[in-house]
Amino acid sequence: MNATGLRDIYCGQVNASNIGQKVNLCGWVSKIRDHGEHLVFVDLRDHTGIVQCVVEAKLNLKPEYVLRVTGTVFNRPEDTFNDRIATGEVEIKNCEIQILNTAETLPIPIDPKINVEETQRLKYRFIDIRSDRMQYNLRLRHRILESIRHSMSAMGFLEVDTPLLWMPTPEGAREFLVPSRLQKGQFYSLPQSPQIAKQLLMVAGIDRYFQIAKCLRDEDLRSDRQFEFTQLDLEASFVKENDIMDFVSKVIKSLYEDVFNTSIDDIPKMTWIEAMYLYGTDKPDLRIPVVITDLSQLFENTNVNALKGQSIQGLILKGGSLISRAKLDELVEIAKRGGAKGLLWLRVTEDTSGIVFDSPVSKFFQDEDRESLKKGLDPEPGDLILIVSDEKPLACKVLNIVLSKVISDNLIDIKLDQADHRYVWITDFPMFESVDESNNAVAAHHPFTMPNIEDLDLITKDPLKVRSSAYDLVLNGWELGSGSVRIHDRSIQETVFKALGLTIQEAYERFGFMLEAFKYGAPPHAGFGLGIDRLVAILANESSIREVIAFPKSQSGIDLMTLSPSQVPATSLKELGIQLVKDSKNEGKNEVKQ
Ligand code: AMO
Repeated sequence: MNATGLRDIYCGQVNASNIGQKVNLCGWVSKIRDHGEHLVFVDLRDHTGIVQCVVEAKLNLKPEYVLRVTGTVFNRPEDTFNDRIATGEVEIKNCEIQILNTAETLPIPIDPKINVEETQRLKYRFIDIRSDRMQYNLRLRHRILESIRHSMSAMGFLEVDTPLLWMPTPEGAREFLVPSRLQKGQFYSLPQSPQIAKQLLMVAGIDRYFQIAKCLRDEDLRSDRQFEFTQLDLEASFVKENDIMDFVSKVIKSLYEDVFNTSIDDIPKMTWIEAMYLYGTDKPDLRIPVVITDLSQLFENTNVNALKGQSIQGLILKGGSLISRAKLDELVEIAKRGGAKGLLWLRVTEDTSGIVFDSPVSKFFQDEDRESLKKGLDPEPGDLILIVSDEKPLACKVLNIVLSKVISDNLIDIKLDQADHRYVWITDFPMFESVDESNNAVAAHHPFTMPNIEDLDLITKDPLKVRSSAYDLVLNGWELGSGSVRIHDRSIQETVFKALGLTIQEAYERFGFMLEAFKYGAPPHAGFGLGIDRLVAILANESSIREVIAFPKSQSGIDLMTLSPSQVPATSLKELGIQLVKDSKNEGKNEVKQ
């Protein structure tokens, strides 16, 4: 990277090899130390770092003034070396200063040692981004995208832009609508993802498509969700599920090599049912060394009521017996709120006879019960056992909720190292997530997801048992991306629509042009959408995607810098054929009418 224009070197690049050279630098005044007698030390900052300039003139400089400094590079006296900055052995002397711009006092500090409220940071984002943290995050994001684009191109994928003003997409969230001025009363939908467009590109013979795509979803915002987010969106023809997982794995592995100069292990695979039964979630955090054990068989003949039931699921927390009684009561409540009848806890202690279980139900224990616990969970003194007896999926889900609380409240010593990146592929998701009142199946993914061929017969007989050819990539408990093989066969598509309670006519009303396109030789195809914001956040050790997005919305969906959304002039509404009416239920706020 060579500096050009008003400068010939960047601030952070000046080093001992430049000693004696005359240099031109540009940047912002980061710090001023006035030594009197017209002697001022100015730390000049640009995006590469800071360099000290010795200014021997009477200048009225202030922090964040924009300067051009022309001077000579000198070695600093050894006792003044600053090993906290890369340029700490040198300084610029004999400086000529040109003030390119002045700056008012900043409304927020950019000193990493000072904590600034996020609302203020978002309001003054153009200043917040001057901070080392935001500079690092946005530059990391760029390097990750650069690596991804390079890998995708190397694998023969073609980057194609798809429209933003479009039609509804079947991702299941609420859409943002844009009123049409020319077609009054009609709306475009902003795409929740380029799902339909990319499938049409497969029919169109593009073969391998990708896009760093903006996706728009009107859903509740959280630390891992924004209205606008970015996906690596991809689709390929004549491929199987494993091919797509291989493409994405290659992208991830290459970016560790390109960006961090390290390598990562092959990404393991786990079926959805394994994940649900071992971790109680389809987004397992493999850094957590606790898995659920099915104790049902061991307690088949027990007389302890709390250990009877459809299934008995348990987990063991090393060192957990120190958790207070009040906290245990809180965990029991959390389990109940999660839908379980209760949560059985047992503190593992020791007396002269060996291992002892201290629990509200231990007085009912027979020797066989104690043996079963030892056999199933291999407890040691100091451990805590947690057991839920219920239907297996519910019991596992509740244990995961309880474990998450134990970890977030630091109740046991489990350190989740942010630098430890544990990826896992989750495969064989169910095709349908439930059955509604009209006995129609409810799709777990969009309705073009291919069922597992082995389960086709079950679609009409037992839809909840049907597995799909859908897969997710999970990193440290976050869903990073998901994808599937798509249905290209008309009769399978019709069977799926039927199971979802959609008549062919209704399906045509919603996705007519797509079904029409599929009549003309749709190749078998599959694809994936990878959440870039989530990936960058984890790689930047951030816990919110807002930290890796230049101009994110606040938790309540507002851009605090521009204060959008905002009202528009009546003339704009008139042009669109939109009239605002008072909504009496909504505290007198306006409602849109067409
Ligand atoms: P899906 O809806 O699972 O799949 O989205 C894929 C990935 O996009 C990210 N993501 C989000 N990131 C930030 N804010 C949001 N509101 C948000 N919503 C989703 C997540 C998620 O895993 N078209 C399909 C993919 C396919 O089948 O090819 C799709 O969009 O990381």
